[in-house]
Amino acid sequence: MTGHPNVADPRLYREDTWRPHFARLRAEDPVHHHPESPYGPYWSVTRYADILKVELDPATYSSASAMGGIQIIDQPQGQELPNFIRMDPPRHTAQRKTVAPIVAPSNLANLQATIEQRTAALLDGLPRNQTFDWVDLVSTELTAMMLATLFDFPFAERRRLTWWSDVAICNVEAEDAVVKTDAERMAELRTMAATMTELWKERAAAPPKFDLISMMAHSDATRDMPLNEFIGNFALLIVGGNDTTRNSMSGSLMAFADHPGERDKLEANAALLPSAVSEMIRWQTPVIHMRRTATRDAELAGKSIARGDKVVMWYVSGNRDGSAIEDPEVFRIDRPKVRQHLSFGAGIHRCVGDRLAELQLQILWQEMLKRKIRPEIVGQPVRLYSNFIRGIRSLPVVIRG
Ligand code: HEM
Repeated sequence: MTGHPNVADPRLYREDTWRPHFARLRAEDPVHHHPESPYGPYWSVTRYADILKVELDPATYSSASAMGGIQIIDQPQGQELPNFIRMDPPRHTAQRKTVAPIVAPSNLANLQATIEQRTAALLDGLPRNQTFDWVDLVSTELTAMMLATLFDFPFAERRRLTWWSDVAICNVEAEDAVVKTDAERMAELRTMAATMTELWKERAAAPPKFDLISMMAHSDATRDMPLNEFIGNFALLIVGGNDTTRNSMSGSLMAFADHPGERDKLEANAALLPSAVSEMIRWQTPVIHMRRTATRDAELAGKSIARGDKVVMWYVSGNRDGSAIEDPEVFRIDRPKVRQHLSFGAGIHRCVGDRLAELQLQILWQEMLKRKIRPEIVGQPVRLYSNFIRGIRSLPVVIRG
């Protein structure tokens, strides 16, 4: 196959023009080798079934930071916050086990009422009959509020959580980077560590409560976690839950605006909400790709992968693969097997916060439906220049009434 563009070009995602390139790759060369790119040579894995094969074979396809990590761009060595998304077993297994119960449905149920109240108040306070940015006033604000609720972080300072997440993931070389050097980044993250340490000590000394810091400070699994591990896990939860959930909130609004029939269906039958939420997450696919590095020679869809090769799983493509998902280009909230999508990955690294993300989206839409809020999109979205996060930076809307 010749003449195929570099699907890692961030412009494809800013301009939202990636679909035909992946359709062609899936049809003509589903595991494709790109000999040259700004990130060096890499393999593109574009079909649902092949992505699953890579996900389910972590012994061959490593996530380890030392091998390059989980993004197409190699992880800068020695500067990262240690956390388990960039680890292989057995370290990954042990660290994930300490965090997973914290975001399990039984724990989340305790936070639901607070999240509902705060979401309701935010929606009631939105401007009427005047254009505003949905991303700023709703998606970013709700995600910050929800993170503050989850951690019982001082509510008035909630945007610091968004800030630390932006600092932790930003590419310092990018034009719009929030910090311009790694030294600046480390200074900010040290402030985060100091703030979190204070909260941890406070919660450990007080009776247990239903917030994630208190739960971690009191649970048998996490009580004795060394401080640096606590900070690493804490940062991973903030970063993991920030952009992804924020962009699902913006993307779901766009999906319903483009498919008013689906909105009618949901208004007529609120029992469809859980399945609608899964479809929103598939439709948006907030994480564009995850990368692995081959630890040994392997064969994938007839191609020979060599030890050390960079293997990129394009979730945006797997979620549009008609051989696994019926009519993938249709947004259908009552589709059969609606949870069968790749937005959360699969296997040992499958998103640990999946239920939490679904709960947040469910509450947003439940409260919108109750109030019959139907925001009208009145301008073009501005999309993120990134090949990793499928982000929406701004989205002008009006709520009439
Ligand atoms: C719609 C929202 C979300 C999406 C689309 C998403 C997507 C993902 C993806 C694709 C992975 C990697 C899966 C793999 O490599 O197979 C992941 C891992 C992870 N996510 Fe999420 N995520 C979301 C929300 C959240 C939330 C709310 C949290 C927590 C507050 C969270 C925490 C994590 C963590 C800790 C990992 C690492 C798991 C591991 O390595 O074992 N995510 N997520």
